[in-house]
Amino acid sequence: MNVIDDAMNLRAERLLKHEQQRYVQLHPSSADLADTARRHFLYGVPMHWMNDWGTPTPLFVRSARGAHFTCADGIEYTDFCLGDTGAMFGHSPEPVARALERQARQGFTTMLPAVNTPDVGAALSEQFGLPYWQIATTATDANRFVLRWARAVTGRNKVLVFDGCYHGTVDDTLVDVSDGRTVSRASLLGQTVDLGRYTVAVDFNDLAAVERELAGGDIACVLTEPALTNCGMVPPTPGFIEGLRTLTQRYGSLLILDETHTISSGRGGWARQAGIAPDFIVFGKPIAGGLPAAAYGFSEALAQRMEAAKDAAPPGHSGVGTTLSGNMMTLAAMHATLTEVATPTAYEHMLGLAAELEVALNALLARHGLSWCITRIGARLELQFCGTAPTNAREARAAQHDALEHAIHLYLLNRGVLLTPFHNMMLVCPETRPLDIEKLLEVLDGCLTALTTD
Ligand SMILES: Cc1ncc(COP(=O)(O)O)c(C=O)c1O
Repeated sequence: MNVIDDAMNLRAERLLKHEQQRYVQLHPSSADLADTARRHFLYGVPMHWMNDWGTPTPLFVRSARGAHFTCADGIEYTDFCLGDTGAMFGHSPEPVARALERQARQGFTTMLPAVNTPDVGAALSEQFGLPYWQIATTATDANRFVLRWARAVTGRNKVLVFDGCYHGTVDDTLVDVSDGRTVSRASLLGQTVDLGRYTVAVDFNDLAAVERELAGGDIACVLTEPALTNCGMVPPTPGFIEGLRTLTQRYGSLLILDETHTISSGRGGWARQAGIAPDFIVFGKPIAGGLPAAAYGFSEALAQRMEAAKDAAPPGHSGVGTTLSGNMMTLAAMHATLTEVATPTAYEHMLGLAAELEVALNALLARHGLSWCITRIGARLELQFCGTAPTNAREARAAQHDALEHAIHLYLLNRGVLLTPFHNMMLVCPETRPLDIEKLLEVLDGCLTALTTD
């Protein structure tokens, strides 16, 4: 599947070295900040993995607005990474900024429901379809809590996920498949529990494998993204998610759709667009305009089972929820995002421009004689080094090429265009303009020329 010959390999490595040097010349202030920050931050960054980007030193950001941001060296970037979906509705959306300003003088957090709670619930329900909601601070937390609820209401202890999945730093999901066995991911720090004991992972798009596992009657839930987006994009084959819905119902398991990334599909997310009703749905990252916030929704039937499970449990910690979730600032930002930012007009713009970008990217690849593909889920696009979109994580891994991916990323970054640091992913936000798309295409054209000619 990997359509990359030796000559391309060599050019990618050469280009990467060249772009690393260029990055160093362009970013002296970021380098200084990295040195200074290292005095008090591990690796000089607030979170260690910010150091995993392909840049020689982290890129420090001064300010971000709409589809653009400016780095510490004063260079302006057109942002297609958009915080890997956290800023999918643009940086600092005006209605959210206004709501936060208003709320900032009226309290941040009280551990009590704010008066706009009914409005936020109604806005979640209007946009995503499910009738009942709970708030969490991150999508990671939301997934963790949903797994706990699923086990509580079904009385079963196992969960089924898909090879190549990522649902945040939720232990139960941080597994790999090795020789047909589900095992803890080798890269995990401090993992002492065998995660394969209560989690089983199978190939995405393999309904027969799912049915084999569900038939055992001990799986509480199937947790999946509607399309895998974290191992390279893997779209569902027609009928796959519908098949999951049917099978989970047949075997008494719950279907949880993690729409943290597939919220890019269209207003309401992938499931709403496809007319599929999961038991639980999880949204995170952009739903409060980029502030830490997540929400999980569930059906009426499930709400009753959840209340019954809670009522039957002894008093004390439920293991669900954190102090600051659902605080006043978050609720204000979420309400503004849902009602004034993630609007039908905004989605129309994002999806229209993303579709145009897809056509233009395919034409560009064809012009350079490259048999790679563009995979698109609504406003989210990915350049993949294979002829057609992968159907499972093994195929997605086979299509990956580190040097090429990093060379493209750095070449673009050095010319003011940011994609995600992994998988060459691009998001179109409500503030992205045709001029931004033109810039991306022009710079990528130069990059592909460098990769295809000696
Ligand atoms: C599908 C999916 N779910 C959950 C998460 C976790 O989100 P967060 O890191 O905001 O908790 C991610 C993060 O990339 C994700 O891609």
